[in-house]
Amino acid sequence: MADFKEVLKSKTNEVNSIIEQFAFKEEGYQKRVFEAMNYSFIAPGKRLRPMIVLETYRLFGGNDIKTVAPFMAAIEMIHTYSLIHDDLPAMDNDDYRRGRLTNHKVFDEATAILAGDGLLNAAFETMSNTMVECGDNDTLKKMVKANAVLALKAGSFGMIGGQTVDLMMEHKKDVDEDTLLFIHKCKTSALLEASLMMGAILAGATKENVDALEEAGRYIGLAFQIQDDILDVCGDSAVLGKPVGSDEKNEKVTYVSLKGLETAKSEQEMYTKKAMNIIMNASGKEESFLLDLAKNLMTREK
Ligand code: IPE
Ligand code: IPE
Ligand code: MG
Ligand code: MG
Ligand code: MG
Repeated sequence: MADFKEVLKSKTNEVNSIIEQFAFKEEGYQKRVFEAMNYSFIAPGKRLRPMIVLETYRLFGGNDIKTVAPFMAAIEMIHTYSLIHDDLPAMDNDDYRRGRLTNHKVFDEATAILAGDGLLNAAFETMSNTMVECGDNDTLKKMVKANAVLALKAGSFGMIGGQTVDLMMEHKKDVDEDTLLFIHKCKTSALLEASLMMGAILAGATKENVDALEEAGRYIGLAFQIQDDILDVCGDSAVLGKPVGSDEKNEKVTYVSLKGLETAKSEQEMYTKKAMNIIMNASGKEESFLLDLAKNLMTREK
């Protein structure tokens, strides 16, 4: 386990050095919005989504960092925007994120909304620019597909859809399991599905494998959100870098509130096993960093 932590650290450093190249120049009349965008984008997140893009790309034989880098940055930009907006008073109303005051606390609500909007556009600018510059038609086709996947998974059928129902279900006592699953699959699994799919698509994996990885992403996302819900009850805010008790404060339905800690934990294990089996079958490899990552997410403390 100590070993995994070391590897994870070096992989995180690698991802950081790749995506930080896409940070924003803080200049011009609108300097303030770039400062707010960088404030959250550069903050110490786990970088899970771009890390999965890169590792899936490698697992399926990809070896050109320049091809995959803009897509890694794009998904982290979209994820970061979702967090800035998630923390707003109109949504979860939280004061800490990634170990820092939330965007709207440091800047203001209007700027935080615009910084989120700016990051969302920047994600598509980043992917479009690399497609415009791509001289190879085969690679271009893969990039267009990866772009389409991210657009779908981040949008109203994916993350935005999940966030919508998450908010609709606040303060409701009678939320059923299907609704909770819809929320978790959309708000959290969708971007993890996109991470695996984009990496595989850019590496030229078969459609069967991309479809299989979409399913694996769904399970990793469910397991990930179960842990997020558990940590909101049992975590340490100093380690998490965000508050605990946010879900209870907002009377959210979560895996833990609906099913209890024990069942949440055992279902998390079931989802993780399913995801790992799919990844093993699709890649034909019994060992990979991606598998270790999926497994270790179950015991993460942040
Ligand atoms: C938090 O995501 C939002 C959820 C989908 C639960 P992460 O836990 O990946 O947040 P960062 O990127 O490490 O800050
Ligand atoms: C939000 O879920 C998932 C997003 C799409 C941002 P949560 O509201 O549980 O995420 P945290 O706990 O604030 O990170
Ligand atoms: Mg939320
Ligand atoms: Mg939240
Ligand atoms: Mg949470």
